[in-house]
Amino acid sequence: MRITPSILSADFANLQRDIERIPSSDALHIDVMDNHFVPNLTLGLPVVEAIRAITQHMLDIHLMIADPDRWAPAYAEAGAESVSFHVEAAHAPIRLARELRALGARASLGLKPATPIEPYLDILGEFDQILIMTVEPGFGGQRFLDAMLPKIRRTREAIAARGTDIWIQVDGGVSESTIDQCIEAGADTFVAGSAVFGAEEPDAMVQALRAHGDKFGRCAH
Ligand code: DX5
Ligand code: ZN
Repeated sequence: MRITPSILSADFANLQRDIERIPSSDALHIDVMDNHFVPNLTLGLPVVEAIRAITQHMLDIHLMIADPDRWAPAYAEAGAESVSFHVEAAHAPIRLARELRALGARASLGLKPATPIEPYLDILGEFDQILIMTVEPGFGGQRFLDAMLPKIRRTREAIAARGTDIWIQVDGGVSESTIDQCIEAGADTFVAGSAVFGAEEPDAMVQALRAHGDKFGRCAH
């Protein structure tokens, strides 16, 4: 299992310092918001490029933006290893996923809470990861929506039936008190923003979250 802290809850005036506080993380989850797809504005390509220059961490970009078809490839070109875009915003998700992969990035499909996985089961193979939002996208620190657990479970079953290795990432309200349900439902990649950066020792929290997976006796699905 992978723990991917969201730097949305880091100190934006001290991003490098905060990134250096989580050496145990498997990737940095970077939330890009455009104030159109979601009612919040965060950061964009120049900041991602600046982060790329100061860290070897895998960069896991989460685009919460309109028209990802136009903007997403540049993040892959900037050296991000994974790029998530939302299916609700994409005009041609298959074409975009193939473009991202051709640029060497993992292609990841994001689903808002009210978006079911079923319409996309036939195109799962176009993706390396499915990002299941467990809060409405836009802000950190919201409460985990346990109504998403059946969707995680059905997505895991569909991936297992295909016999392919597609990661299931959960994002929103993940903490020590909610991660077990997500693991049990079949998620293997966990975003945590406020839980990690709100902790006194962020890296110890990354390790504590990962230890929940060990408890279940699985490293990955
Ligand atoms: C919300 C973002 C999340 C956010 C999670 O739209 O996509 O990545 O940072 O924050 P927590 O873990 O605090 O819910
Ligand atoms: Zn996110």
